[in-house]
Amino acid sequence: MTYEILTPGIELLESMRSVGYSFDDAIADLIDNSVTANADRVDVAGDPVDGLYVSILDNGDGMSPEEARTALRLAGTGRDARAENDLGRFGLGLKTASLSQGRKLTLASKLNGEVTVIQWDLDFVAEAGDWRIRVLDREDIDHIPAAVDFDRLDSGTLVIWETLDYLIGESEHPDEVMAKHLQELREHLGLVFHQFLDHNYIGGLEIYVNSVKAKPLDPFLSSVRKTQRSPVEYFKILGETVEMQSFVLPHSSALTEKELRRKDLSYAMESKQGFYVYRGHRLIDWGSWYGVTKQSQLKKQTRVRVEFPNSLDHLWQLDIRKSKVQPPREFLNHYRALILNETRKSERVHTYRGRVRRREDEVTPLWNYIEERHQIRYEVNHDHPLVQTAFTGLTKTQRRAVETLLEDVARCVPAQSAYVEISDNKTYAAEEYDAEDISKRVAVFIDGGLIPRDSEIAFDVLKDIEPFSEQPTLREIIEELIED
Ligand SMILES: Nc1ncnc2c1ncn2[C@@H]1O[C@H](COP(=O)(O)OP(=O)(O)OP(=O)(O)O)[C@@H](O)[C@H]1O
Ligand SMILES: [Mg+2]
Repeated sequence: MTYEILTPGIELLESMRSVGYSFDDAIADLIDNSVTANADRVDVAGDPVDGLYVSILDNGDGMSPEEARTALRLAGTGRDARAENDLGRFGLGLKTASLSQGRKLTLASKLNGEVTVIQWDLDFVAEAGDWRIRVLDREDIDHIPAAVDFDRLDSGTLVIWETLDYLIGESEHPDEVMAKHLQELREHLGLVFHQFLDHNYIGGLEIYVNSVKAKPLDPFLSSVRKTQRSPVEYFKILGETVEMQSFVLPHSSALTEKELRRKDLSYAMESKQGFYVYRGHRLIDWGSWYGVTKQSQLKKQTRVRVEFPNSLDHLWQLDIRKSKVQPPREFLNHYRALILNETRKSERVHTYRGRVRRREDEVTPLWNYIEERHQIRYEVNHDHPLVQTAFTGLTKTQRRAVETLLEDVARCVPAQSAYVEISDNKTYAAEEYDAEDISKRVAVFIDGGLIPRDSEIAFDVLKDIEPFSEQPTLREIIEELIED
């Protein structure tokens, strides 16, 4: 046997650009490096006028000249065991994420006062025909405003992207393109790093995008009182532990105006239900049930936090961009029943909002829900005692007329339009009865002969039927009316 060595062509660098990073994913991958390097502040800046550069500055540990060179090598850092808090895996992020947006990547890093500035420039590599980096002086990055802040640090790293062919391209309005990207980026970072930004979780990290601080976006609204949460579950696999906890968000009527301005809590809420998968506390993937159930309007309140450690990356099929995972089948099978149960709670937030129903099955509803061959409809419940008594005394033909009318009321329920409105986070206002509403109705029904004028019997009938069963002071209301 003989052997030969086949080294990769320099085109590899060009090809690596196309692994499909979005701008948001690319920046997040670089901030992973900053977090791993113990930075507590990261400043992302984009050229607001000409769109010529993007810079990412951190005050982390920094790198020696050798470490900086290893950092610029493709797969220079291995896939082997990583510290628990290491957000890296492939040894590629810095290079592929950066070059996915532009053709030139400059790495400036400082450790113990020693500054290293080195650069991949795809055009320089193509011209030279080999894997050649530029070694620069500190002054060579003077045109980047963040370089001044870099000088002030004892240690830290500044990454600069230039020749932004993919990010800005040939746009005639680079300022607008850049501003839009940065605006969306701030929200994205506020979400994927929310645990690091929020003292209710881990806290301790600040991220600025063109000097404006990214605010943590907690997808679980865990500090809102009305959010329901399950106990934390611990799933053991390959000697490691995966954490899981489900949340049912409150109905939109319980949210503040500021919360309702969040896309993921308003018009985009339906597509944001599902698992929220974190790796080392950094949100990787969200808005899918991974086949456990289907997304639906009624389940939009349920979000499930899952945290897995980086030692299980292979099992979760973490992708190179760190924006997708596929949970292991064992995990999904184990929690299928529990998740379905949680999504039912979400449905109840819609159907029985704000009501506490302890003997749900024993309450006679006014409407029946009927599902036939995947079609659903509602019909007025003719077994409801008040509907029954309304029929007594009617002739057969009169009764048929009223029944037909009730049938038509049900048939013409504007369900489609209600669905559209509620999806748009409008509240269905006719839904709740307060004590006064109930009192008025009981009075009308007593006067009209639908309820006997006997407080014991009246209470007995009303306590188990909609809408009276929910009223905690029902007995007092009846007694007051009948004594009068
Ligand atoms: N901001 C930074 N501060 C300190 N060290 C860094 C920084 N960015 C990168 N490095 C070093 O360079 C190495 C290579 O980074 P790169 O992002 O390419 O790969 P990785 O983080 O190891 O893995 P992954 O491809 O999963 O991101 C890192 O492992 C780290 O040692
Ligand atoms: Mg990395």
